[in-house]
Amino acid sequence: MSIRLGDEAPNFTALTTQGEINFHEWLGDSWGVLFSHPKDYTPVCTTELGMAARMKPDFEKRNVKIIGLSVDPLDSHMGWEKDIEETQGTAVNFPMIADSDRKVSDLYGMIHPNASDTFTVRSVFVIGPDKKVKLTLTYPASTGRNFDELLRVIDSLQLTANYSVATPVNWKDGDDCIIVPAVSNEDAKEKFPAGWKELKPYLRVTPQPNKVKGEGQSA
Ligand code: BEZ
Repeated sequence: MSIRLGDEAPNFTALTTQGEINFHEWLGDSWGVLFSHPKDYTPVCTTELGMAARMKPDFEKRNVKIIGLSVDPLDSHMGWEKDIEETQGTAVNFPMIADSDRKVSDLYGMIHPNASDTFTVRSVFVIGPDKKVKLTLTYPASTGRNFDELLRVIDSLQLTANYSVATPVNWKDGDDCIIVPAVSNEDAKEKFPAGWKELKPYLRVTPQPNKVKGEGQSA
């Protein structure tokens, strides 16, 4: 069965390049990003892992741990990581799950048999500190993911978890937000002292609350 938004992220124990982990214990109170790679020693994955390693501080700033997965064994991961460091200029600095028995891939529905029986697709799961799945993405093997987009969605998820706002099309951190329809204008006066522009009664645009001085209250 596929994993849907709001589901608890299935727990598992697995061998990784940084030792055996229990996934939920490893996550602790952090947010998490679990992403799969079709296979070791493949070119697109090599570039993705180099980029993920370079961007690890950006994830850490947001209290997000990142973890990769590929259906090859640990010794293969270790050898591949040397190539990644050599070609991408950054050592892989987060755990890579060695899922040679496909236990985790099957648990998370990362193998799509009509695409490939043997490779995983490029799955991404963003998991909140409550262990609930907040985002799922599925890319084809031939298309590398955009890790800036992952950070953008995480910024939105973390903002909307704390304030009564949603984020509009192409939003990025610092842009105006939308007051959720469940908040009345009466309540909005208190929650959004910077005010809002009402384009329609259901479309009220307000400055990003955590960037407005004195607008510190949560949802
Ligand atoms: C890659 O990561 O380069 C790749 C993996 C599987 C199929 C095609 C490309």
